[in-house]
Amino acid sequence: MWKLAIEDAVKKTRKNIEHFGELFPHVSVNGKYELNNNDDWTDGFWSGLLWLCYEYSKDPVFKEKAIQTVDSFQNRLNKNIVLNHHDIGFLYSLSSKAQWMIEKNESARELTLQAAEKLLSRWREKGQYLQAWGLKNDEIEGGRIIIDCLLNLPILYWASEQTGDPKYLDVAEAQAEKSRRYLVRGDDSSYHTFFFNQGTGEPIGGATHQGYTNGSTWTRGQAWGIYGFALSYHSTKKLAYLETAKRMAKYFIEHLPEDYVPYWDFCAPINENTPRDSSAASIAVCGLLEIIRHLKEDDPDRAYFEVAIQSMMKSLVEKYSTINEADAEGLLKHGSYHVRGNLAIDDYMIWGDYFYLEALMRLEKKHKGYWYE
Ligand code: GLY
Repeated sequence: MWKLAIEDAVKKTRKNIEHFGELFPHVSVNGKYELNNNDDWTDGFWSGLLWLCYEYSKDPVFKEKAIQTVDSFQNRLNKNIVLNHHDIGFLYSLSSKAQWMIEKNESARELTLQAAEKLLSRWREKGQYLQAWGLKNDEIEGGRIIIDCLLNLPILYWASEQTGDPKYLDVAEAQAEKSRRYLVRGDDSSYHTFFFNQGTGEPIGGATHQGYTNGSTWTRGQAWGIYGFALSYHSTKKLAYLETAKRMAKYFIEHLPEDYVPYWDFCAPINENTPRDSSAASIAVCGLLEIIRHLKEDDPDRAYFEVAIQSMMKSLVEKYSTINEADAEGLLKHGSYHVRGNLAIDDYMIWGDYFYLEALMRLEKKHKGYWYE
């Protein structure tokens, strides 16, 4: 079943290349992707999809297009276009870093190192954290960290491996540690974001941006945590990160509804109109697949995670994908971007499509995405 799903994804992506032209897909409106000029946090996912399709099919059409997107990311960095945020890892891991990993292209490596440097500029010495959004000293945003940022740390781990300079690794580890202490709660659920006093570094408290309430568990945030801590474990070998990833994964799995695809927030009231977030399921599957790479064959949790992976993935392919809809643009239906903000609450999300294909490629081809070499 995974092979058929990959082939469907490759076919749709090939068609989308013509359709999207120079533009980048974000989320859908009425079944059609909204496109932008490479100025959103999501634009690396299109590059990542193209690289995955290239690696699966070896069709040069995907490679040519993927390289075009990397050129666009070079321009974005040169002109500093909408880069005052932590999502630089999402943008450059899946575009220029992927190109480096596949082709050992030196300028792609150089661009990725520049991007890592840019992310480092968000480090706030006083509080010892990477600021999520906005400019330094911003009255509100200056003190905020975010769980999503865990997926932006791999570009820093990679930069230290490449250059031998520990400064990137030090920041990434400090951020992972801060996230573990303040974003993950005692019952293994998570805050979406957390505020610190910018002047003193003292913790203030958890707050949400896209979740149901400040104290609730936004489903995608939990998924970012599962995958992000597993990736931090891969690069640091600190057992606390693997343990945290496992605990967050168990919380996620235990709170899944019958069809194994979560609602948008684990604390949201459930009725027949409650939106799902299929993208969170696809991220969580990638995270679980990363976790089990690090478990011994006889680890008592292995079978539990393997059953969850198969159940979630089967449901995604059979009930949430567009595998039986030849004309669909997206791969995965029923994602939600920002339910309280009424933004794309039942749509395609380009990151949902990316992680869906990454999960399929992990399952079918033992691929591991573009987060680490
Ligand atoms: N990183 C933003 C989101 O997951 O919506």
